[in-house]
Formats: sequence, C-alpha cells, structure tokens
Amino acid sequence: MSNRRLKVAVLVSGSGSNLQVMIDAMQAGTLPIDIIGVISNREDAYAITRANTANIPVAVLSHAPSGKRMSIATFEKHALAQIEAWSPDLVVLAGFMRVLSAEFIHAVPCAMINLHPSLLPAYKGLDTHARVVRSGDQHHGCSVHLVTPELDAGQVLTQAWLSVDAHDTTEGLGKRVQKLEHQLVPATLDLIAKNVLELDAIKAGRTTGLLKLPLRFWLHESQE
Ligand code: GRF
Repeated sequence: MSNRRLKVAVLVSGSGSNLQVMIDAMQAGTLPIDIIGVISNREDAYAITRANTANIPVAVLSHAPSGKRMSIATFEKHALAQIEAWSPDLVVLAGFMRVLSAEFIHAVPCAMINLHPSLLPAYKGLDTHARVVRSGDQHHGCSVHLVTPELDAGQVLTQAWLSVDAHDTTEGLGKRVQKLEHQLVPATLDLIAKNVLELDAIKAGRTTGLLKLPLRFWLHESQE
C-alpha cells in the first residue's frame, strides 16, 4: 500500500459540486490528491469559478476561435493535449456531460473514472432519478466506474446505495443521491490513492486480491 499523492485532472460541464468536495478535501489535507487541472466543455459551468477560486488551472474548451461551438473531435484533440501536458495519474469525469470517443478514451495516458447517478448496470444514460421513480425500484444510488468506450459500462469500482421511499420525487431523490456522491467520490479517490483499488490491474482484468467489485456502501445521508 503506498502513500502517494494522486495527481488528478477533472473534466466538468456544470455546477461542480463534486469538484468542490474534492477541492475541500484536498485543501483540508484529508485526501491525498493534487487536482492539477480542470477541463470544462462549457464556458458557463460554475465548476470553473470553483476551480479559479482554488487557484487550479482551468482549460475551457467550448468554442472555436470563430465562435462556433466546438465539435467533439476538436474538444478531444485539445483536451488530450492538455491532459498530456498536465500528465495526471487519473482523470475524473465529474458531471461531464459529453460522450467521449473510443479513440480519445484509448489515447488518454492514464486511467479514467466516471461518476454516474445510478446503481450500474441499472439505468445507464440520462434521467436516472426519474426512471427510478417511475420503475418503483426499492434501491437507487450512484456508482464510480472505469471509463471504457461503451457508455457507462466499464468496471464498477464503488457504489453508494439508498432505499427509495414511496414518497420520493425525482428532485428529492436526486438530492439524496447527490449527498451520497459527495461521500463516494472522495472515498473512492482515497482507495485509489492508497492502491486498495489498483486501477491498472483492474483495467487489465486481473484479480483484485480480496476485494470483490463493486465495493458497496450504505452511507449516512448527511445534512449539508
Ligand atoms: C452528478 O449528479 C453526477 O452523477 C452526474 O452529474 C452530476 C454532477 O454534479 N454525472 P456536479 O457538477 O458535480 O454538481
């Protein structure tokens, strides 16, 4: 088990509340990570303000110099160059809302993980909370998984579970899951930094010792 500090690059598209949790833990010294850069595909993402406030370098890759919205191919070209320049140990997709190509995913020179608001493999894709409410499922939650070319289908590393209440609305369930995300993301990064989750071995499909993946957590739904 190592005590390394994990160099992390984070890709975002929106509010960045999960980025904020990572920043807070990094600054408090409770998580052995250095967030070395943030890439946003939207210029109006509040996550950019959060990164700026924490003096973390930000690359906004939303529009070409002509003013036209960047194609995914152009975004990926610039994002890859930026990731190579930062040379992180890990790329974290935290509320990053564009689908990445297989070429990009293979070209990224380190492991890449994604936070997804469902208990994968259930409810891949969008609108997970509404779909759970409609289904009448008893359980819901969030997952952190390896990014592979098939959407939301890479090995699930960790999950936080909750019991769905009969009176849960889509919005209320979303808020409950978000509270779990804010605990699951730093907990997962800690396990990766400490090499409890050996991403290279997991990526290669090699056994992970005593751990049976995904690691499932029932976390306190703390007040924020
Ligand atoms: C999270 O709910 C995550 O599961 C989903 O996008 C949301 C990001 O929230 N992929 P934030 O930008 O971290 O606040």
